[in-house]
Amino acid sequence: MSRTPTYAAELRAALSDVVRAVDERELARATEALVARYRSVGPASAPILASEVHVAAYAAYRMPATHAALSRVLGAVADRGVQPRSLLDLGGGTGAAAWAAAGAFPSLESITVLDQVEAALTLGRRLVADAPSPALAAASFGRARAGAWPEEQADLVTVSYVLSELDERQQDALVADAMRRGQVVVVAEPGTPDGYARVIRVRTALLAAGWSLLGPCPHEAECPLLQGDWCHFVARVNRSAEHRRIKGAELSYEDEKFSWVAAAAPGLVESLAAEPSPGRIIRHPLKRKGLVEFQVCRPDGTAGREVVSKKAGERYRRARDAEWGDPLP
Ligand SMILES: C[S@@+](CC[C@H](N)C(=O)[O-])C[C@H]1O[C@@H](n2cnc3c(N)ncnc32)[C@H](O)[C@@H]1O
Repeated sequence: MSRTPTYAAELRAALSDVVRAVDERELARATEALVARYRSVGPASAPILASEVHVAAYAAYRMPATHAALSRVLGAVADRGVQPRSLLDLGGGTGAAAWAAAGAFPSLESITVLDQVEAALTLGRRLVADAPSPALAAASFGRARAGAWPEEQADLVTVSYVLSELDERQQDALVADAMRRGQVVVVAEPGTPDGYARVIRVRTALLAAGWSLLGPCPHEAECPLLQGDWCHFVARVNRSAEHRRIKGAELSYEDEKFSWVAAAAPGLVESLAAEPSPGRIIRHPLKRKGLVEFQVCRPDGTAGREVVSKKAGERYRRARDAEWGDPLP
């Protein structure tokens, strides 16, 4: 959780240039409006990023968090041996998932971000102008609406924090569009019961189409958390002084909760280098003297407690470093 995502500092520097150019009071007002919108439930009747100031507010207040979440998600996908050369980011907005993908996959050569809001794309282009990765600096940002995406193919398709803005029919269509265009599909949502429910719907659709899960689940049986709980993870985001100011926040960090699922097209998983994990850590580990206690989701489709004690030697040392969201050591 305390790991800093690749390119977090570069993204922060790029964001700081953009934010400084916007009137602070307008930015604070737009941030408040976004906070209120993201707390409400249900699809949006009009684009949420309604103006350039809303887009700047989104970039300043949400993008570091969605970037941190996607960095964790795509890091876990990279750990499964996925090495995409091309990325298509649907509903990519200002490019958070593209930044995370560039950090997770040095193999990336081409990046396309598609969104319905021109102002978000314009800001996304400005942010990558001096990006540290050549693929990111050369990323293409194009305007498109869900349901009318261009027929572009990519090794990896990301759908990051988009589904909550769509009704269920549009969500299903977007996932089908992602599957038609990609070899690996990654969907991330806020780590709320609602976001988890949308992720479970996507998981069901991916499995029904014969895709193989790459994570976070170490199995393809029914999710053991369906009754009374929800599968989510956490990424720590360090707040810049500007971030704290526009959010009126005191703490120097925030914890972004997210839910996600990633899957590979039929036949692909057999060619991946890495093995599935022996379990996924689904809560903060309890680290006590001489032992580490985990809540894990297991390959047999159950969830429960695992303890690694000092007697386990090298495994115990790895257990001390393991975090919520990591594979069980
Ligand atoms: C919460 S933002 C997420 C942006 C980015 N993916 C991220 O992770 O930071 C949702 C994005 O979905 C886009 N979006 C929502 N509905 C859309 C639609 N019907 N067609 C295209 N883009 C859409 C919005 O314009 C916005 O940029």
